[in-house]
Amino acid sequence: MAVAQTMRAANDVASPNNLDAWWLPFTANRSFKQRPRMVARSKDMHFYTPEGRPILDGSAGLWCCNAGHNRDPIVQAIQAQAAELDFAPAFQFGHGKGFAVASRIADLAPGDLNHVFFCNSGSEAADTALKIALAYWNVSGQGQRTRFIGRERGYHGVGFGGISVGGIVSNRKFFGTALAADHLPHTHNRAEQGFSRGEPEWGAHLADDLERIVALHDASTIAAVIVEPMAGSTGVLPPPKGYLKRLRQLCDKLGLLLIFDEVITGFGRTGFAFAAERYGVVPDMITFAKAVNSGTVPMGGVIVRDGIHDAFMKGPEHVIELFHGYTYSGHPLACAAALATLDVYRDERLFERTRELEEPWADAMFSLQGLPNVIDIRTLGLVGAVDLAPRPDAPGQRGFEAMDRAFQDHGLMCRVTGDTLAVSPPLIISHDQIGEIVDKLGRVIRAVA
Ligand SMILES: Cc1ncc(COP(=O)(O)O)c(C=O)c1O
Repeated sequence: MAVAQTMRAANDVASPNNLDAWWLPFTANRSFKQRPRMVARSKDMHFYTPEGRPILDGSAGLWCCNAGHNRDPIVQAIQAQAAELDFAPAFQFGHGKGFAVASRIADLAPGDLNHVFFCNSGSEAADTALKIALAYWNVSGQGQRTRFIGRERGYHGVGFGGISVGGIVSNRKFFGTALAADHLPHTHNRAEQGFSRGEPEWGAHLADDLERIVALHDASTIAAVIVEPMAGSTGVLPPPKGYLKRLRQLCDKLGLLLIFDEVITGFGRTGFAFAAERYGVVPDMITFAKAVNSGTVPMGGVIVRDGIHDAFMKGPEHVIELFHGYTYSGHPLACAAALATLDVYRDERLFERTRELEEPWADAMFSLQGLPNVIDIRTLGLVGAVDLAPRPDAPGQRGFEAMDRAFQDHGLMCRVTGDTLAVSPPLIISHDQIGEIVDKLGRVIRAVA
């Protein structure tokens, strides 16, 4: 044992020769360990393999590195923070950068979304929002409101709350559903929307299903509706035109809270700080994570409207108002990284830049139409997806092979969901690099024909 440990410790950390111990998340582990896709370094638009081969980052890591990689101001902020205040408890204590980040985020959010509750990931953000909804109805004298409404093909992370409201079969099948939840229909229909850029024309009426679901249970039993403005993880599903406004109107009519899960869409991905702004809708809560600090230090949170926050601020002042929180809520390193990242977004006008790039990006992605097995393409902001026809009797195999070949043979990182390839590069991408991504994707698509 001691010898094995010594050998393991002696491994080069950049390219360890023992891949046994790390059980990788959301990964085909056996396949990975036969043909590893390893990275050792990153800068701006690229990862580098341990051998130094550049990999163009077509996915902003995991939809999170919106400012690009290892940006000097962000690196320096994290380093300086580690030397100044490495940790500070957020239960009954506070620190300046936590309050500063909360204010900056509240300023970016629309309407009276003015209060930020910090956690460490998108999953925690989703579960936190659901808990705030339950607790809000409790403190408002309507504790019987315990049901939630999510959406088919929704992804809200891997907590027991998130998988209950989420609409991903494998998550629900294996882990059960802890919360009572019904689901709106998903909004993707290839026959009606195939190859549409941005928000498809067809599908706003799908929001009307909310009335049918609510009629089954009565609105007085329902706590909240939760949707991603654009479903990302299940294959990039832009919302149909008018759909989100319709959902807001129905929630108002039925007296339900509306939660937008903006873990992917937050901080510039659709050309705005939040997709809520793009769609002119003020939800009651917004969840965020990932790009809040460009993926550098784990951080997530929930932005809450005045009315919900204020409902908790009553009773004896020595009593904790919300029994919820995480040891690392508002971690000083995450906050320092977030402040530096928000400065980069502002100073480099990265959200506006994304709006400017939206059309050329869509033009480039749509040039893949007509390649073998391409059965649909969708784009929104700096996001694109290509659906490939599944191989007979092997759904997901063509997509998996494309993702692997993109990395191994063409130096491109992209995401795969089933047979859908998704790309969402850092917002600093150049026009040439857009061309490069699409060129590499084209070669990969031909290679897996
Ligand atoms: C919309 C949405 N919510 C929640 C999550 C979960 O985030 P995390 O992996 O940080 O827990 C994700 C992750 O992709 C997501 O896309």
